[in-house]
Amino acid sequence: MLPGMPEPSASATICDLLGEDPWADGDSPRPTLRQALRRCQPGQVVPARYRGADMAIFVLGDGRAFAAPDRCPHDGGLLSDGFVDGDRLVCARHGWEFEAPTGRCPLRDTCVPLRTLGRKG
Ligand code: FES
Repeated sequence: MLPGMPEPSASATICDLLGEDPWADGDSPRPTLRQALRRCQPGQVVPARYRGADMAIFVLGDGRAFAAPDRCPHDGGLLSDGFVDGDRLVCARHGWEFEAPTGRCPLRDTCVPLRTLGRKG
């Protein structure tokens, strides 16, 4: 579980997570979750900051949007530097893949805690 993140639920929507970040410091170069989701187009990954945590926001080709901690469980690579391949977020550093919406890495015994943000478009 991410520090400060609400418990995940199947009914989570964009409204659950979006809003101004009360933990944001004004000097962070990362956009808020709301700004990041606005910028992120289907097939893209962008960095964000939510409740003081660095996040990777990505949108699948069908418009479903997700958030994950911006640290790969393999070796700490930035997931926001990765890319979307089908329904997977791929870490650019060594290529580990994480399935949406579970966050499961099919070839490894690990996962990232993905959070569903809703649907764009
Ligand atoms: S750091 Fe992500 S695959 Fe190695």
